Amino acid sequence: MAALSPDAILLTGRVAVVTGAARGIGRAIAEAFEAFGAQVAVCDRDKPRRDRDQPRRDRTDQGKGGALAMTLDVRDPVAVEVFARAVAERWGRVDVLVNNAGGTFHAPFADVSAKGERTLIEENFTQVTGMIRSMLPLMGAGASIINVTSSEAHQAAPGFAVYAAMKAALESLTRSLALELAPRGIRVNAIAPDALPTEGESGVRESMPAGEFDPVRVPPLGRLGDPGDAAGAAVFLAGDLARFVTGATVHVDGGIHAAGGWRRV
Ligand SMILES: NC(=O)c1ccc[n+]([C@@H]2O[C@H](COP(=O)([O-])OP(=O)(O)OC[C@H]3O[C@@H](n4cnc5c(N)ncnc54)[C@H](O)[C@@H]3O)[C@@H](O)[C@H]2O)c1
Repeated sequence: MAALSPDAILLTGRVAVVTGAARGIGRAIAEAFEAFGAQVAVCDRDKPRRDRDQPRRDRTDQGKGGALAMTLDVRDPVAVEVFARAVAERWGRVDVLVNNAGGTFHAPFADVSAKGERTLIEENFTQVTGMIRSMLPLMGAGASIINVTSSEAHQAAPGFAVYAAMKAALESLTRSLALELAPRGIRVNAIAPDALPTEGESGVRESMPAGEFDPVRVPPLGRLGDPGDAAGAAVFLAGDLARFVTGATVHVDGGIHAAGGWRRV
């Protein structure tokens, strides 16, 4: 294995797929990947905002690059296949797949309907297995998968029991696939965020009734983070600096996971 050079941080020429990239963490990851040299394919059920905000998305790079943005629901297997085909037609391969799309709502476990539960399971777990199966045929040695989970995968989450269970399932899937795909040279890792203010995160927090369980609001680092903090971990995991890292979880949470039940008073 060659010695690392500072260039190992770069993702030059790599083809990266990011789901849920219209805003928040997914958008920050897609932008960081592009800044570090990757060619990026994004999808979201909302129209990707970068299409509206940043026309440079349509630029072409050496005739074969340029970003690809598709509006789709990752829970729709037909739409995901169309997306995978578009990526295959544009680049013929995928080097990085970031399963970022996900979400939840607050509800006491007993109040979650069967339909609501199915939605949470599809939104946070089965769409990821479907996306991985669709993209795997395009992935070869050196490729990597990054699943965005949550600190809730590692602790109790009252009012979010099904979401937390699905994120925990995603952590388990990450480790199993790390072993299954190791012989193909494909790494599989997770990023477990918390306390990164986004539209989704603040919407969920605002929906929580006062006076019930309260999650830690100020991480041990003493401040909230930023979606770009998760992007930093994604750039690391996607590139050669992490070439021997698989089956791992990077906690991007200002220390919340490490703190367990401890908090400064
Ligand atoms: N922000 C945090 O602190 C935090 C904490 C824990 C976990 N997470 C996880 O990080 C990921 C990103 O969260 P965020 O905070 O950026 O949320 P966000 O709601 O701001 O952004 C999520 C993006 O994903 C898209 N999306 C969601 N479901 C989709 C679907 N079915 N099909 C297509 N697109 C879909 C949304 O339209 C949105 O653009 C999620 O998986 C979330 O569970 C975030």
